[in-house]
Amino acid sequence: MSLSGSTTRYGNLAQAFHWLTAVLVLAAFLVSAGGPPERVYSAARAPTLLLHESLGFAVFCLLVLRLLWRPFDRIPDAPAMPGWMELASKATHWALYALLFAVPATAMIGALFGGHPVTVYGLGAIGPFSGTWGAPLAEIHGTLGDVIMWLAGLHAAAAIFHHVFLRDRVLSQMVPGLPDPSASLGRQTQP
Ligand code: HEM
Ligand code: HEM
Repeated sequence: MSLSGSTTRYGNLAQAFHWLTAVLVLAAFLVSAGGPPERVYSAARAPTLLLHESLGFAVFCLLVLRLLWRPFDRIPDAPAMPGWMELASKATHWALYALLFAVPATAMIGALFGGHPVTVYGLGAIGPFSGTWGAPLAEIHGTLGDVIMWLAGLHAAAAIFHHVFLRDRVLSQMVPGLPDPSASLGRQTQP
């Protein structure tokens, strides 16, 4: 058990951040507050919106903690794979990081400047502030919320493909207790 990672495995803390984030993003998406503004901000939908905003805000806080920890962590080296595949994997990871920032940020700024206070965990509300660009930003937030789900789905499918068909340690290095399939094939996994 080690908080930080090694050349072949993510550390426990990075794994915890990753899986908690994945669960919270999925939960925020499932309770997402859709529809016209008069419905989204109606009294009847207030509990759903509070839950959605609180889950989404937790995603944002986890991202900050995760990025603060990352420079002190050992990120595993990529197992042997074609250059284009490694590049695609890195690009997807950074796109997911960008979306983990952009999805909550557009929501919070969009709501505040669209005339709606933001309340998380039932604590006091922040804002609203005056502005005209809140509504388009809230619209962008909804679209980016869909994009992060599609990209995360593709990313998960790629990780499972690596595990099942390429038999490398891409998935096992992020899943606690999952053995590296290339080790059982007697392949060299160390870089
Ligand atoms: C990763 C986290 C989040 C995801 C995946 C997500 C996803 C979504 C999606 C997909 C929609 C559009 C629903 C539809 O039109 O059917 C939506 C709407 C909304 N979300 Fe989020 N959201 C997240 C975080 C947040 C946060 C932090 C807030 C806090 C302000 C928030 C506030 C809202 C609001 C107010 C709407 C309605 C926007 C409007 O149409 O005016 N969301 N969200
Ligand atoms: C909303 C859901 C998800 C998000 C936002 C997300 C995001 C990320 C990010 C940003 C990384 C890069 C970590 C780093 O190097 O700092 C990563 C790595 C990884 N994720 Fe996810 N992920 C999600 C869901 C999943 C799911 C469902 C799976 C598996 C079924 C998965 C499997 C992996 C694996 C195996 C890695 C390590 C890949 C490697 O280092 O090559 N992720 N994820």
